[in-house]
Amino acid sequence: MEPQVHSMELLSRSSRYAENAIEEENPTLERLAEEGKKVTKLNIGDPARFFPTPRYMIDAYIKALNEGKTSYVEPEGIPELRDAVAARYKRMYNEDIDRQSIFITHGVSEALIFMNSMFIDPGDMAVIFKPYYSVCYTGFRVFGGEPILQGYQEDRNWDLDTDELDRKIKENIGAGRRVKYISITNPSNPTGMVLERKVMERIVDIANDNGLILISDEIYDEVIYNGAKFTSVSEIAGDVPHIIFNGASKDLDATGFRIGFVLVPGEDKASEEIRKKMSDYCSMRLCVNTPAQYAVAEGINNIKEHEREVSEFVKAIEERANFASKLINESEYMHVVPPGGAYYLLPKLDMSRLRIKDDREFVHKLLEEEQVLLTRGSGFGADGHVRLVALPTKEILEYSINKINEFCRKHSR
Ligand SMILES: Cc1ncc(COP(=O)(O)O)c(C=O)c1O
Repeated sequence: MEPQVHSMELLSRSSRYAENAIEEENPTLERLAEEGKKVTKLNIGDPARFFPTPRYMIDAYIKALNEGKTSYVEPEGIPELRDAVAARYKRMYNEDIDRQSIFITHGVSEALIFMNSMFIDPGDMAVIFKPYYSVCYTGFRVFGGEPILQGYQEDRNWDLDTDELDRKIKENIGAGRRVKYISITNPSNPTGMVLERKVMERIVDIANDNGLILISDEIYDEVIYNGAKFTSVSEIAGDVPHIIFNGASKDLDATGFRIGFVLVPGEDKASEEIRKKMSDYCSMRLCVNTPAQYAVAEGINNIKEHEREVSEFVKAIEERANFASKLINESEYMHVVPPGGAYYLLPKLDMSRLRIKDDREFVHKLLEEEQVLLTRGSGFGADGHVRLVALPTKEILEYSINKINEFCRKHSR
């Protein structure tokens, strides 16, 4: 039968592809695997591939299964986990937040989809700092959003020009554009930079002054090192409407559990509306993995075990990130600002010294020729850079950086 429906008529007009740069070399990876070639992968920020998820959380997961906790549960999340998240924010940031203001999602990734679908009509704008965590930005594009991109300044340790930020927002609002939110990722993926408190206070003021919601992704809030000081938006936002993302993937080293937390603490009208919408979205997908929620509640509540695990983890990350930064900064072909949090390095390539078109070609050829996989910086709004994770052992990091240097020498002008 002749098909009568054309795909272009099916897709919404705002629909664009997310183009997640982190995964784009998968077809080449598959081919290399078929050819029997082993690839060193430094492209994905997945701690559980390098550090086993803590045993006490796995035991809690198994216990939940053995106790028959396998049914659907509350769409917004089990009370035990929502209360654990509330207690965590009270303990760490002195934030008073009740269970009703906390929602459990399939990772922060699902929360991002919820938020963009909730806020963004085609043509709407939001502020995204650049370099950005790719999926946050590209997910926003899928809903037809247009970013106000505010760049961090690499030559000033990724500092932010907040006066320029305020000016850009006012310009767009003045021109009749609908600007919805400011999104912060702190610590940053992909730079590992931790925002200073005074910069954050200024961002809170700017959000308030321009009537924007502040969305803060704090998923790496315990992965802080090199003397950096982390400030949660919950500590400084006061009555300014804000939404906080966090979850089990990074601090609890449980990416595959797929558990995220969304906090919407405000008593204002906008926050109330957002909470209603969140409940509605949560109910559309029924609930989040039940035993994983019990395991993450234990992951948070067992403070003694957690602190032991997280301090060992962060110490190892600090060593690895500093080791890799030093090696990178000894290279003639690249330079990196050492991170203060998360576990990413975003070296800038000296493209003028290479016979390579751009960072996309760099990543692809490096994979083909040396079987080392990075992610192209342009996928994070940082052209001419590459992102690598500092999660593997020092031996693997050294091997990979040596390979990158060899590759650069081979392709140098
Ligand atoms: C800043 C940031 N937010 C969110 C995520 C995704 O988190 P989740 O596993 O909770 O979906 C990542 C993953 O790398 C990230 O770097």
